[in-house]
Amino acid sequence: MALLPEDFILPEEYYTEEVAKQYEQNTRIQKVQREMTIRALDLLKIPPPALFLDIGCGTGISMQVLKEKGFEGMGIDVAESMLAIARQKGLNVFKADFTNQIPFDSNFFDFAISISTLQWIFHGFKPAIILEKGKKAIAEIYRILKPHGVVIIQFYPKNEEQLTLAGKILKKKFHVTKIIDDPNIPKRKKIFLLCSK
Ligand SMILES: C[S@@+](CC[C@H](N)C(=O)[O-])C[C@H]1O[C@@H](n2cnc3c(N)ncnc32)[C@H](O)[C@@H]1O
Repeated sequence: MALLPEDFILPEEYYTEEVAKQYEQNTRIQKVQREMTIRALDLLKIPPPALFLDIGCGTGISMQVLKEKGFEGMGIDVAESMLAIARQKGLNVFKADFTNQIPFDSNFFDFAISISTLQWIFHGFKPAIILEKGKKAIAEIYRILKPHGVVIIQFYPKNEEQLTLAGKILKKKFHVTKIIDDPNIPKRKKIFLLCSK
């Protein structure tokens, strides 16, 4: 498989001002990210009101969908250039690395959503290091969620090994249900992990 940005560069270095601008202006990206957010909300099956944390919020595409659906949202991202665009939209976003520390109190959010972000934890490291980083990230996500909180994650594992590793990490804290849309159409295949406390 061809190298992906997450294989060789850190997100905060990859998402330059130029890349962030291209991301935001790409109508296909906008459409796909919106559709995946709507699908993630369908899988959660919850009515508003509820407070969400968007993990790896980027330019705020999912946060705009949350708002349209009547939910409240806050976002975190490690890339300042992506956050700058989200801020221009008036969204409530903060700079933070979810594999290190999520800057909110414990039991703060009803739900969390993370679209197309988790694959970045596989950046250039060996499984043992990913496991360590992943464990810390999952402990943080668990901590900021309320007792019956749920996090819905869509991501692009590069292979079965990455999917298994992500599942193994998440299962240390959450009950995990895997949902795969269009499993036999590679271009449309989407993996969602519904993780309940
Ligand atoms: C493909 S973009 C997706 C953005 C947004 N979720 C969307 O659907 O449009 C991935 C985002 O994850 C962010 N990201 C990657 N690793 C992160 C980390 N450890 N902590 C916070 N954000 C991270 C990147 O900076 C980038 O904005």
